[in-house]
Amino acid sequence: MRTFRQRSHLLFFRGAIRYAAFRGDLLARLIVRTGDQNPYPIYEQVRARGPVARTSLGPVYLSASHGFVSQALRSPELSVVDSEPPATGPLRPVQDSFLMRNRPDHPRLRRLVTPWFTAKALQQRREALSGIAHQRLDELAGQKSFDVVQDYFVPVAVRVICELTGLPLKDWRRLAALGDILPLSTTNRIPSERQERLLQTRLIDLDAYQDETVRSGTAPEGSLVAALTDRATDPNALNRNDLIATLGVLLIAGFETSVGLMGHLTTRFVEHPDLRRAALGDREVFLGTLEETLRFEPPVQFTVRRIDQECEVDGVRLKSGREVMLLLAGASRDPEVFPDPAEFRPDRPNSKAHLAFSGGEHYCIGANLARLESEVSVQALFERHPELRRAGRPRWQPSQNIRAFRSIPVSP
Ligand code: HEM
Repeated sequence: MRTFRQRSHLLFFRGAIRYAAFRGDLLARLIVRTGDQNPYPIYEQVRARGPVARTSLGPVYLSASHGFVSQALRSPELSVVDSEPPATGPLRPVQDSFLMRNRPDHPRLRRLVTPWFTAKALQQRREALSGIAHQRLDELAGQKSFDVVQDYFVPVAVRVICELTGLPLKDWRRLAALGDILPLSTTNRIPSERQERLLQTRLIDLDAYQDETVRSGTAPEGSLVAALTDRATDPNALNRNDLIATLGVLLIAGFETSVGLMGHLTTRFVEHPDLRRAALGDREVFLGTLEETLRFEPPVQFTVRRIDQECEVDGVRLKSGREVMLLLAGASRDPEVFPDPAEFRPDRPNSKAHLAFSGGEHYCIGANLARLESEVSVQALFERHPELRRAGRPRWQPSQNIRAFRSIPVSP
């Protein structure tokens, strides 16, 4: 429960941000935006100011330029904004995992899970993933309408994570409920008290769940959970916090994002039956559409880096101690790299140059998995329901960073 003083501070900040947004400050406009509002006109205005734009809200640069963002992600003078794990309370899978850690912890922890995410390792799972998708469609058979996000993509994506990590499949409903953590942890709006309480409850559930799983020792031999648990007996390899945060990030970063991609791809196919038919008949067209969907509507819209030392990135001198908001979605619509960027072109020759999976040392470890599970699950959906259509208004996630549908009602 917030104190009166905390509430007054928050009201003051909210008011100041709203006023700055009214005056045209671009960061403030991004902060007050709700999940269902189109962010792309703001990104264009950021880019119109040059490689970086400034804000009156603090020592922060913003960039929607492809050249600047890609160089910044690879620049050794920039790092992720890390923080100490909380002294009490549950770990936060986004902030306390290797996603937001720097050297030497970042490569040490990332290396431990990399073997499960290589293209070769994943290809061996294609059939298992397809089985998961078809099994869920069997469970939904006979329904006159369903929510393709909550009833299909979420269960499939969570079961895929279980399959990959060795978490018990029977737990999928409990894990699916944890999906709120990502949008709530990555929004840059000031959360309401209700959202803060919900986030805390979910984090406590995640912590408890992982502790139970690790302690039970029932993860199948050779699975990711078993391998990490074994390493946790070696205090130099992995301590309890690292173990829980690493499992947490794979679970949390790994399903709402993929569900976002599946939702955007499905919407495209529902709205464009010719494209759907072409893509279902030709894998190259399908994969081109998937990549263009990642460019056009990336589920993760931005990331942030701290400038550790004064440096130059793409010809811009950056001051030490400032932060830079890298608008991955804005950079993926930079006309310097993608002609007519607001046009969706499944055959765009360089769609793959998008920054939907970021770049540099923190490049998404799950990029191959996200592509594979989206391909398999969307394909299975349209194979079984070739005439799938909308049955209600879709709803967006309430986050500025995770741009994904929370719900899309459909009829088979
Ligand atoms: C379409 C789906 C996905 C998108 C758009 C996405 C996007 C991203 C982005 C933008 C980053 C980098 C953030 C930064 O640079 O600060 C990232 C990192 C990460 N992603 Fe993904 N992701 C997706 C799917 C997945 C999946 C399926 C998993 C795992 C099961 C996963 C696990 C991770 C992890 C562990 C990191 C941290 C990597 C590091 O810091 O070294 N992601 N993701």
